[in-house]
Amino acid sequence: MPRYLFPTPKGSEITPREVYLNRRHFIAGATIAGALLALDGSAKAATSPTEPLKFSQGSVKAPSDKTTARELATTYNNYYEFGTAKTEPARNASTLKVRPWTVEIGGEVAKPRTIGIEDLLAMDLEERVYRMRCVEAWSMVIPWVGMSFSKLAALVEPTSKAKYVKFTSVARPEEMPGVRTRILDWPYTEGLRIDEAMHPLTFLTLGMYGETLPNQNGAPVRIVTPWKYGFKNAKSIVRIDFVEQQPRTAWMTAGANEYGFYANVNPEVDHPRWSQKHERLLPAFFASRETEKFNGYGAEVASLYAGMDLAVNF
Ligand code: MTE
Repeated sequence: MPRYLFPTPKGSEITPREVYLNRRHFIAGATIAGALLALDGSAKAATSPTEPLKFSQGSVKAPSDKTTARELATTYNNYYEFGTAKTEPARNASTLKVRPWTVEIGGEVAKPRTIGIEDLLAMDLEERVYRMRCVEAWSMVIPWVGMSFSKLAALVEPTSKAKYVKFTSVARPEEMPGVRTRILDWPYTEGLRIDEAMHPLTFLTLGMYGETLPNQNGAPVRIVTPWKYGFKNAKSIVRIDFVEQQPRTAWMTAGANEYGFYANVNPEVDHPRWSQKHERLLPAFFASRETEKFNGYGAEVASLYAGMDLAVNF
């Protein structure tokens, strides 16, 4: 099989074109240095404290690939609120205060409520090993701990007007250096169609590798949709709104022609600036793996998109 060098444009990562053109010298150096440090395992270890969690083994079948080393999954991150280079979240995110923490749930629901993180952690949690695929064409295999998002939704009883779910991440300039810049339109927002959100694979995630989430991975609570590009997985969520209209997301605001609302992993639809046909399963340096449609979860989720043109709804 041919081996493809990672096709992403140098240093731009998933930054919008206008932004990266201005910043490319800085980012190129930082990203390459960061990637090399992370890949040889010598990056600074995760700094934010984590605690062991109680959970059962989930029924979702784990991918055949080996689980990514925790050291790598917690030091090679995208979390722009803490910087655009891969090693910056692990270095900078310990300033984020994750207790006390509440998630406000509202919009088109019969029972809006604010739920504290302790109440979420006290619910029945399970571990699920998911294959994760970033839009930048790298992937990892991560054991998450959490629950189906539908369990949380059941608590607030969405009405028939709830057609989409909008997730809002925390944005605190004093704790998050990236929020003091204009690299994205803060707060980070993401969204799912209601049937995607209620799909049993959509995971309200509170931990990884058996412990609470490190800050750089989105503590204390994030969303994980394994058949979509990683940018759908909003970190450090403070608000969840059930809404009637498709929400505009932070990445759509940054570049709607590059980061679509659906963002389903799809080797047949390239990103305008690079191919999605292959990926590198970290820590591999070469993009030698073929990308699987829906990231390998097609048997479970393809029916959600029956009749839709996924090249238009990318
Ligand atoms: N959530 C917020 N709030 N800010 C971000 O910059 N980056 C996204 C997503 N969630 C991001 C975010 C992207 S591009 C990816 S690939 C994943 O988080 C990375 O998750 P990980 O660092 O835990 O692997």
